[in-house]
Amino acid sequence: MALRAKAEVCMAAPWLSLQGARALVTRAAQAPRTVLPFEAMPQRPGNRWLRLLQIWREQGYEHLHLELHQTFQELGPIFRSESGGPRTVWVMLPEDVERLQQVDSLHPRRMSLEPWVAYRQHRGHKCGVFLLNGPEWRFNRLRLNPDVLSPKAVQRFLPMVDSVARDFSQALRNKVLQNTRGSLTLDVQSSIFHYTIEASNLALFGEQLGLVGHSPSSASLNFLHALEVMLKSTVQLMFMPRSLSRWTSPKVWKEHFEAWDCIFQYGDNCIQKIYQKLALSCPQHYTGIVAKLLLNAELSPDAIKANSMELTAGSVDTTVFPLLMTLFELARNPDVQQALRQESLAAAASISEHPQKATTELPLLRAAIKESLRLYPVGPFLERVVSSDLVLQNYHIPAGVLKHLQVETLTQEDIKMVYSFILRPSTYPLLTFR
Ligand code: HEM
Repeated sequence: MALRAKAEVCMAAPWLSLQGARALVTRAAQAPRTVLPFEAMPQRPGNRWLRLLQIWREQGYEHLHLELHQTFQELGPIFRSESGGPRTVWVMLPEDVERLQQVDSLHPRRMSLEPWVAYRQHRGHKCGVFLLNGPEWRFNRLRLNPDVLSPKAVQRFLPMVDSVARDFSQALRNKVLQNTRGSLTLDVQSSIFHYTIEASNLALFGEQLGLVGHSPSSASLNFLHALEVMLKSTVQLMFMPRSLSRWTSPKVWKEHFEAWDCIFQYGDNCIQKIYQKLALSCPQHYTGIVAKLLLNAELSPDAIKANSMELTAGSVDTTVFPLLMTLFELARNPDVQQALRQESLAAAASISEHPQKATTELPLLRAAIKESLRLYPVGPFLERVVSSDLVLQNYHIPAGVLKHLQVETLTQEDIKMVYSFILRPSTYPLLTFR
């Protein structure tokens, strides 16, 4: 079969467990193994065009992760999917992910996220690291690492995030105390959304918005609504060639562009304020990630703007849902909650003095957050276009393929997750804070 130049490998989230299929792998490992050709790999059932029709009809693909889970159960830990689109191989075992990371080059390549790229091309904006590939990705990434991702950078902005977290728990505590019974039952997700916007805004732009504990501003409500529309329309558009979706889904494209316009306007405002402040005087102390990037001047202002926009848009939902689901799991597991409380009480004095110690002195909390991310992975898949031939699961993959509040809940049932570019809970649990 002729090979296409472009195909990808996708790695599904670790929560996808394989029961029967794992046994198959173990048995196969005992027999002498000759590498099988790519075409011998099990193929994902179903027809791509019917799938597109279904996404179009249902206005989304909420069950994608469950469908993939079932396919892994039926076909084993590796399968391919093509039928008209790019040749894609899906893997899920840690050893295969490790192998893929080993062959990742200096310029790991991902598929283009067409709806996002189309917006930027149309409006004449640059792309940031999330959307870039090749040398331009590496150039940007190397200049972002010291001020965004390195442990030193985290130590610098952590006290800012810490102060917003303290305000958030204090605001929640005040609300609980206002109640004569000393407890409050609520759907806390909108408060968490405002907490994450506040924390992200402070760490990125050094500005306090005053969202925690107050009624949300219309700007932040518009921003949140735009993020939601943008993520939903992304899924409606990302699986279909643009040439086709232009005709089948013009309304969705319009919504997608309008949502990005609103997100860019929000980000633009934040960046303009920083420019104005820096033009007046050079700060004597650390005032956030973006000011530091502008002062370094290692990236062009347009590149800093593009990356700031991705950091602004990427920092909200990714933080809200893991936090919400961690609270929900702690509410369902009071023993674990109690153990975390003991750990934080023991470390409280030391962390108050040095917020940076939060990353090292709360190992149980760290483990609980990791466990929530394993159970409810916000980003369910990763993808790579492989640059050299490799063997996975004995199949040949050719190059080019692809503060002390107690939380309780009456909801004991599991919460279903839905795919909306990220995974999000289909319903928000009511939580009681005491
Ligand atoms: C639990 C929270 C998060 C999860 C699970 C998550 C997941 C991911 C994943 C899977 C990738 C793709 C990595 C790859 O292709 O190798 C990614 C990239 C990225 N994320 Fe997140 N993310 C989270 C939080 C955040 C936050 C808070 C921000 C912004 C402040 C952010 C900004 C980005 C950016 C800019 C990239 C592109 C990096 C690059 O390609 O160089 N993410 N994230």
